[in-house]
Amino acid sequence: MSVAVLPGDGIGPEVVREARRALEALAPDLELEPHLFGGQAIRDTGDSLPEETLAACKASEAVLKAPIGDPEFDAAEVRPEQGMLRLRTELDVYANLRPAQSEGIDVLIVRELVGGLYFGEKGTREDGTWFDTCEYTRPEVERIARRAFAIARERGGRLTSVDKVNVLHTSRLWRDVVTELGADEYPDVPLDHALVDSFAMTIVNAPGTIDVVVTENTFGDILSDVAAAVTGGLGLAASASLGGDGPGLFEPVHGSAPQIAGRCIANPAAMLRSVALMLRHGLGRPDDASALERAVDETLDDVKTADLGGTATTREVGDAVLAQIG
Ligand code: NAD
Ligand code: IPM
Ligand code: MN
Repeated sequence: MSVAVLPGDGIGPEVVREARRALEALAPDLELEPHLFGGQAIRDTGDSLPEETLAACKASEAVLKAPIGDPEFDAAEVRPEQGMLRLRTELDVYANLRPAQSEGIDVLIVRELVGGLYFGEKGTREDGTWFDTCEYTRPEVERIARRAFAIARERGGRLTSVDKVNVLHTSRLWRDVVTELGADEYPDVPLDHALVDSFAMTIVNAPGTIDVVVTENTFGDILSDVAAAVTGGLGLAASASLGGDGPGLFEPVHGSAPQIAGRCIANPAAMLRSVALMLRHGLGRPDDASALERAVDETLDDVKTADLGGTATTREVGDAVLAQIG
């Protein structure tokens, strides 16, 4: 089995190093193959997602991706983030699972990942107007809703669908489809709906009342950072992006954190937990996944990087996780 590893930009290579060490200890039979992606790929090839990298990702069992992005490209025509959106589309990983857990909190955000505002028509008109458009089709909403209902059912939970039905046209489609699907196929899964603005407040004020959440791309992007913040911060938050039969994509919720890159103080926990999600959802190795999750949890009790108020380096956290794995 081969895993395509995309080391990314900023703190990416620093946290990926610890992910590789954990993976080599847990699953020595896996082939880990690094590929050029993101800002470094633009510098070397002019393209953030070179064809060779895309082909290797498609041919792999799973893709382990570190964050990309660099202020150097903020105003550039070709940016690392474009390659990332393209990779998600090419793999058609439409369901992005973003868990956020801590004492008394067990939230799972299921974010639609390959549609909506980030993928709609965009441009500049002659009159000087700049625009982005948000579009969704019924099948696009159906497949993400079905996935979220199935997950909620599997964990014996509830589903909250988040939209902005009081304003947005696409939210009317979203709410109708989720409601119909729930009634037709998942009548046993309790469903409620929430408006995104007040739901952001609920995540902050009463996260313990939330179970599984399904929402569109942009709302899910923003709400998952909020959920990460109330459960210990971005340094802890992992994600799994899944489609049909093809390889899944596993990456932290956080970005390349350019301000702290190169200082060896980045928290590798989100990257390590993304490895665990890959072992569970991408490679069918739930026992290895649980072993890694336990090792990370136990490590974080007393080995903390600066974002968690400690003084440990990235490597020291990685060492402690390796020691826990045994
Ligand atoms: P960010 O997530 O990189 O950083 C936000 C804050 O969290 C910063 O204070 C940062 O230092 C801190 N942080 C993030 N990860 C951390 C970690 N592992 N350990 C300790 N602290 C951590 O978000 P940003 O600053 O808005 O974006 C920076 C770049 O990352 C941008 O170019 C953006 O496009 C890109 N980005 C990429 C991804 C991805 O590849 N999946 C995700 C988000 C942002
Ligand atoms: C994320 C990031 C990306 C997104 C960006 C970097 C394209 O913010 O993974 O949350 O918007 O999905
Ligand atoms: Mn984001």
